[in-house]
Amino acid sequence: MKSRITSLLAPLAGLVSLVNGLELDLTSQDSVKSVTSTIAYDMMTYYSGNQSGQTPGLLPGPCASTECYYWWEAGAMFGSLINYWQYTGDDSYNHVVEQALAFQIGPDQNYNPPNQSKNMGVDDQAFWAFSALDAAEANLPEPGGDVPSWIALAQAVFNFQAGLWDTATCGGGMRWQVYSFNAGYNLKNTISNGGNFQLAARLARYTGNQTYADWAEQMWNWMAASPLFQYQDGNLYIWDNTDTANNCTDVAHFVWTYNYGTMLMGAAYMYNYTNGAEPWGTRVSQILDGAFKLFFPSEYGGNIMTEFQCEPAANCNNDQSSFKAYLSRWMAVTMLLVPSTADQIMPKLQASAAGAAQQCTGGNNGRACGRRWYAAYDGTSGVGQQMQALSVIGATQINSGIAPKSINTGGTSKSDPNAGTDTNTSPLSHQSPITTKDKAGAGILTVLAICVVVGGSVWIIL
Ligand SMILES: *[C@@H]1O[C@H](CO)[C@@H](O)[C@H](O)[C@H]1NC(C)=O
Ligand SMILES: *[C@@H]1O[C@H](CO)[C@@H](O)[C@H](O)[C@H]1NC(C)=O
Ligand SMILES: *[C@@H]1O[C@H](CO)[C@@H](O)[C@H](O)[C@H]1NC(C)=O
Ligand SMILES: *[C@@H]1O[C@H](CO)[C@@H](O)[C@H](O)[C@H]1NC(C)=O
Ligand SMILES: *[C@@H]1O[C@H](CO)[C@@H](O)[C@H](O)[C@H]1NC(C)=O
Repeated sequence: MKSRITSLLAPLAGLVSLVNGLELDLTSQDSVKSVTSTIAYDMMTYYSGNQSGQTPGLLPGPCASTECYYWWEAGAMFGSLINYWQYTGDDSYNHVVEQALAFQIGPDQNYNPPNQSKNMGVDDQAFWAFSALDAAEANLPEPGGDVPSWIALAQAVFNFQAGLWDTATCGGGMRWQVYSFNAGYNLKNTISNGGNFQLAARLARYTGNQTYADWAEQMWNWMAASPLFQYQDGNLYIWDNTDTANNCTDVAHFVWTYNYGTMLMGAAYMYNYTNGAEPWGTRVSQILDGAFKLFFPSEYGGNIMTEFQCEPAANCNNDQSSFKAYLSRWMAVTMLLVPSTADQIMPKLQASAAGAAQQCTGGNNGRACGRRWYAAYDGTSGVGQQMQALSVIGATQINSGIAPKSINTGGTSKSDPNAGTDTNTSPLSHQSPITTKDKAGAGILTVLAICVVVGGSVWIIL
């Protein structure tokens, strides 16, 4: 494996041309376009929501079977396609994306559709809101008609989640699950709170409304004071979740790329919104340093993004198989919002992109992507695997021309600070009946099963 890595890294400065896998030349826009177009096409073979009789916005499910994808990951996938359009100019999927984002808004127009109540986490809603923000920031054509504007959809999610701030335990923050009947309601986790943080920060920058920035600050402060954040020996660790049953006095010692990614993205937006004010610049640097140390292991050359808690052991679930897509996309945006980070980030995106492309050799078509960018094809395939490769290869095309727009810089999505609050229903009213079976599989968070196996490994690696 070592020698393979070396041979992969050597040609990175110039041409990268491989016999196996998708032939990717990072110095050629045409090559990147062609490779990402193929990967996006293959990713979309999993999606049939735009066909007659199917439900727009959903990937195969429900998750009682093995080959299934939770609601949130579909939402995330549409965001990855918005970025794909920006990276390459290929708008082939824009219509499918618009249809899906418009269909899943739910009766209160805040990405809380009743069909998903039995798994509805704050994080799940956040990922759909991120895609609405991607749409607004890219000026994706608005759906029109009765559908609120892209930015109003994100505002509606914010307004809904503001009601979930919970001071009864842990001095604040949000519980993972929206509904108390779902497994995991006892936890306060990083992707939910960090997802809400990112949402608030992006709304602040898009709309210029200081209320959102104040909220982001409040969320950061709560998280930083909780055991989710740990500063040790000059490093920042962002752990996965903490338990209200113990008033958040302990923490689950697991680190995932998307947790660092969402904190990085929020901090980068706050940096940019505040015109580069401290402490946001320092925070961006600390998160980035932590992410570099943890997720770009020196044993794989130091520049290839690795979900080390599940890739080497080959036990990533479908959620986890998509996480690197988000860190990839968000590192790329960080380069634009905090320009001083660009020189550090780009080599990591490029090496990761080359690593991703060379292992897309699986499946019946001989080009399905697996998970391990530091090695040969690992024998797995799925939406997440395709999305990760698509995102990291596309992200190498990041440029100032596609910097996220705001109302002040050409963004045309119409702000509605009261979005989602005009309906006279209570926010928690649309619940569908729950069975015991439903409770088993909720949401994104990866708690016990995997964690027992890998617990403590973080400390060994460092
Ligand atoms: C659904 O979307 C795919 C692209 O992913 C497209 O090729 C296909 O024509 C669409 N089908 C319908 C019925 O619109
Ligand atoms: C909810 O489920 C019903 C029944 O399957 C379906 O007709 C409807 O389109 C779904 N709504 C959403 C937003 O997915
Ligand atoms: C729970 O934790 C919060 C935040 O650390 C603290 O302010 C509060 O006093 C704690 N409550 C109890 C009952 O220990
Ligand atoms: C904020 O982002 C814009 C767009 O990328 C960039 O031009 C600007 O320099 C950034 N502001 C700061 C303070 O870095
Ligand atoms: C800013 O956002 C807050 C929170 O949603 C809202 O109450 C307020 O009206 C907004 N202010 C403006 C000027 O839009």
